[in-house]
Amino acid sequence: MDNVILIGFMGVGKSSVGKLLASRLGAPFVDLDTEIEIKNNMKIPEMFEKYGESYFREKEKETIKEVAGRKNIVIATGGGAVKDEENRKIFKDSGFIIALTASPEVIYERTTAEENRPLLADLSDNEKRKKIADMMAERKSFYENADYTVDTGELSPMQVVEDILHWLKMRRG
Ligand code: S3P
Repeated sequence: MDNVILIGFMGVGKSSVGKLLASRLGAPFVDLDTEIEIKNNMKIPEMFEKYGESYFREKEKETIKEVAGRKNIVIATGGGAVKDEENRKIFKDSGFIIALTASPEVIYERTTAEENRPLLADLSDNEKRKKIADMMAERKSFYENADYTVDTGELSPMQVVEDILHWLKMRRG
């Protein structure tokens, strides 16, 4: 099996879907953000705060290079990993790229329920909505370049997994 790489904006469900998908495929699951935190012994919000976003992006790239070389795994990427051209090429060479999407409103609700996202922290409601819209627009073309896309807005993680499994089965024959 090639790797299965989940891409998409913050809050689309990459980590929860990835975990379930991996267990259904009987494959190891790697969450890139978690891997970055383990390797660097530091939580991502702390890394942003202490060293800034560009330092995080360096660490993200290092981890992507390492993880994408493994075989037969499911990878959940961080929402901004696709901004980098080299990362995009590594993902393409590593397996099937599946994009998860959701509307800005759904993203807003989901990311407001959790507090581990430095890029959306310390903003008023309006600022946060604007930032989500701006970042989604900036990244749209990268997410659209996937092999397959699932809108997760109205689906449970299990339903998303069923959809992906169906596609993988058809794709692989
Ligand atoms: C980021 C998304 C986060 C994490 C970091 C930056 C982004 O991952 O990698 O905070 O640039 O969109 P999730 O998409 O898992 O929230």
